[in-house]
Amino acid sequence: MQKVQNYLAANKKRQLDELIEFLKIPSVSADPKYKKDVEKTAKFVAQKLKDAGADKVKVYPTKGHSIVYGEKIVDKKAPTILVYGHYDVQPADPLELWTSPPFEPVIKKKRIYARGACDDKGQVYMHIKAFEGMLSQGELPCNVKFMIEGEEEVGSVHLSAFCKKYKKMLANDVILISDTSIIDNKTPSITTGLRGLSYVEVEVTGPNRDLHSGVYGGAVANPINVLSKMIASLQDKNNRITIPGFYKDVETVKKAERKQMNKAPFSLAKYKRGLKIKDIHGETGYTTLERTSIRPTLDVNGIWGGYIGEGAKTVLPSKAYAKISMRLVPNQHPDKITKLFEKHFKKIAPKSVTVKVTPHHGGFPVVTPTDSVEYKAAAMAMKKTFKKEPIPQRSGGSIPIVALFEKVLGSKSVLMGFGLDEDNIHSPDESYGLFNFYKGIETIPYYFKYYAELKSK
Ligand code: BES
Ligand code: MN
Ligand code: MN
Repeated sequence: MQKVQNYLAANKKRQLDELIEFLKIPSVSADPKYKKDVEKTAKFVAQKLKDAGADKVKVYPTKGHSIVYGEKIVDKKAPTILVYGHYDVQPADPLELWTSPPFEPVIKKKRIYARGACDDKGQVYMHIKAFEGMLSQGELPCNVKFMIEGEEEVGSVHLSAFCKKYKKMLANDVILISDTSIIDNKTPSITTGLRGLSYVEVEVTGPNRDLHSGVYGGAVANPINVLSKMIASLQDKNNRITIPGFYKDVETVKKAERKQMNKAPFSLAKYKRGLKIKDIHGETGYTTLERTSIRPTLDVNGIWGGYIGEGAKTVLPSKAYAKISMRLVPNQHPDKITKLFEKHFKKIAPKSVTVKVTPHHGGFPVVTPTDSVEYKAAAMAMKKTFKKEPIPQRSGGSIPIVALFEKVLGSKSVLMGFGLDEDNIHSPDESYGLFNFYKGIETIPYYFKYYAELKSK
């Protein structure tokens, strides 16, 4: 691997220059306005895979955004690694909160700033460059297949059908994903769990039209007031979710495992400082690490209605809206939770309003084993490059397709990400440390090496 590492180290500037070009294309999957740019990004990925030496590179159109595929089969008998990632990004709004424009990448204090820098373009690009290094130096120890999609941030709507249709082409021994984070640059970790998701939008309707808040106020239900009360009632004084049956299927994590979990380095003071908050918040009886990994949550992601323009307009609005997400843990079922939410939300609505609940995308939680060769290879690779044993840690985020990979393709995923929680993914001023970008490029070839070795034993 030394030859590969020398090659990779000698090409650092070009790797970063190419990432900058990748980040310049605004591949916002949620906004139809960017449809052409999303397609351009798919083509960019395909071209870079070809340049790196991949075969059968193709941009597969879907009813939504395209999926990019490419592969290199070096030896039919060697194990096959499927690299999954996404080239789409979250919307950049609110733009005014960015220090520099989101699609004009800049490097400051050894970090690259742009939407998608960490999530997930920067991390996808590490794989393409690591592959280029291994192949060009004649040291690619595993077969590799790339599947890079453009709809992860909108729920991977068309990916499971694609996986079913091209099951043979995608056949693999393990799925390797870099779309998560490590504890810090001195404390590597491997993600062993992701939360599931149930996402709903609610609409509360009061009177048939906006009313004068003086003429009618006090006598007709104000849907914003009502919605606020309803939302407030969804959590009790211990910050437990009040939806009947919500916790019924929640996995009880054993005391010993919780103890182990809480040994991971974590500073509450630093956490609060980083977020400029005076105090933390959450479900009674659980630590911050537990609240963000093994416990389910309910959060309002957006709430609107009525007058929000300049000055004061006296109005009793006809409608109020909110987008609500629930993060799920094993063994909660997203559809079941959505139904429980809907039933409860309708039940707690006063007669003075009507309520509509619209489900959005959802996803199952995942936990991955730590006693598999797939995990061990990742632990060995990180140990080699960070010079420290990585800590297994469950994450609070979701990658809904991971559970489906197991169902459809029958293979387990390894979540070897290189981001940091402070990278501001989904927020203004997203960035990715150059240390992390290069560390990923350096580590990935070792994954291939150790995985091949462990598999041949
Ligand atoms: N890469 C993230 C998920 C993530 C981030 C996992 C950090 C662990 C640590 C992914 O792109 C993402 O944002 N997922 C969405 C879900 C999706 C359905 C929109 C999420 O978690 O909100
Ligand atoms: Mn991501
Ligand atoms: Mn994301």
